[in-house]
Amino acid sequence: MSAGAAETGLAGIATDLRRQGVPQVPADPVEEGAAADPAGLDAQPGVLRLGGLRVRLRAVRRRSEALIVPLEPEDLVLQGMADASPPKWHLGHTAWFFEEFLLRPLSQRYGIEHEAADPLWRFLFNSYYDAVGARHPRPQRGLLSRPPITAVLAWRARIDAALEQLLDVLAHRPASEAAAALALLELGLQHEQQHQELLLMDLLDGFSRNPLEPAYSTAADGPEAAFQRSWQLGEAGRNLAPPGGAVAEAGTLAGQGPQAEPEEQGWLRHPGGLVVIGHPGTASPPAMETGAAAAGAEPFHFDNEAPRHRVWLEPFAIARQLVSNADYEGFIADGGYQRPELWMSEGWAVVQQRGWRAPRYWRDDDEFTLAGRRPRHPRAPVRHLSWFEADAHARWAGARLPSEAEWETAAAGGGLQHSHGVLWQWTGSPYRPYPGFQPAAGAVGEYNGKFMSSQLVLRGSCFLTPAGHAGPERITYRNFFPPASRWLAGGLRLARDAA
Ligand SMILES: [Fe+2]
Repeated sequence: MSAGAAETGLAGIATDLRRQGVPQVPADPVEEGAAADPAGLDAQPGVLRLGGLRVRLRAVRRRSEALIVPLEPEDLVLQGMADASPPKWHLGHTAWFFEEFLLRPLSQRYGIEHEAADPLWRFLFNSYYDAVGARHPRPQRGLLSRPPITAVLAWRARIDAALEQLLDVLAHRPASEAAAALALLELGLQHEQQHQELLLMDLLDGFSRNPLEPAYSTAADGPEAAFQRSWQLGEAGRNLAPPGGAVAEAGTLAGQGPQAEPEEQGWLRHPGGLVVIGHPGTASPPAMETGAAAAGAEPFHFDNEAPRHRVWLEPFAIARQLVSNADYEGFIADGGYQRPELWMSEGWAVVQQRGWRAPRYWRDDDEFTLAGRRPRHPRAPVRHLSWFEADAHARWAGARLPSEAEWETAAAGGGLQHSHGVLWQWTGSPYRPYPGFQPAAGAVGEYNGKFMSSQLVLRGSCFLTPAGHAGPERITYRNFFPPASRWLAGGLRLARDAA
């Protein structure tokens, strides 16, 4: 992919849209937003502070569109497998989310001018919301050569303009009235950030199937460069960790928490006991926040991260570092993929059926990445593993996967290298509701809750996760995938029982 092709291709679409009079997001939304409205709408009595949310809306929406700039037009409908979706579909679906859940119910009520999409687009871009209605089959999203990308981008621009109108209106409404709509807007932004990661995951899968081994981006600010930086930064910090650094409790009951124990080589030990995990669920809607919210740092959480609750842990140890490529090569060299005793029965069947002999994107001594085929660094964390592979490797290593409560407890203590921003980390925990879980009301209640079967939890975040979405400030984040999934950027960290 050449930069020139990008400029004359998809980047040129923005120019075309301007000629058509379609509203555009600003060239630099963060700076323009901050300059026009540095502290939110603010200071005036009865006017909610929404400046930070407006700035973030622009930034998140623009980032999605920036992701397709390096692509060729043909790439926009690439769907490598039934579980993946084409880039154009991701852009349409994230637009649909705002139109379906915010603009359809609220436009008339608040006098917002918005030209909705063709009603058939609801069928095309609904993902899995049964309450909304029927939808185009997921495995056939790659057949949607139409609508053209210009129409999808123009739709996105109309939705952006309508959402800004909505913010104008809500700023002058009582906080109690605005709260529900603002919470949905925030959910829409978080949803769009999730799809930004999905778009890149899906693209890697699609490109990996092309013998030309295309590169999405080899740029210094591209995703593969981000991976290399993130794990090597962690390496640099390896020797800087405080000696004796130990696991602090994630949130023990006052005065009842276990005390951290001294570190042993490469492992953090925890004595077990009663800990508290999960999100406290006290986040206010963004409009009611001050300060941090105006800067776009409101403490959002998905419904599946709450409620905060008590968990009993037996003594355990957890590895400071992620399992490396070299570690995993040892598993393969020792016949890891040929030894059924290392695998769950279901996983062993998958190994046989699919002929697995190595992680998804390994190619000889190289690996396929979003920067094309690259040499595989032995010290880099092994990536794109299924839960079955992670579990088998852990068993071979005389260890196991951590539970999500163990992971969260350890992460809260700050002793885990690469806890965020490198790879999602498989846990041994099934994805189930926390005690007292309540899905969100309405159709968006389908967002998380109905998927709480036959999936395993991953913790942390990865190099494809947008900044500010699931970092160290949000250790309660729960990602989840079926155990045979390998196209997500997942790795593993070992744990073991401790006496
Ligand atoms: Fe979605």
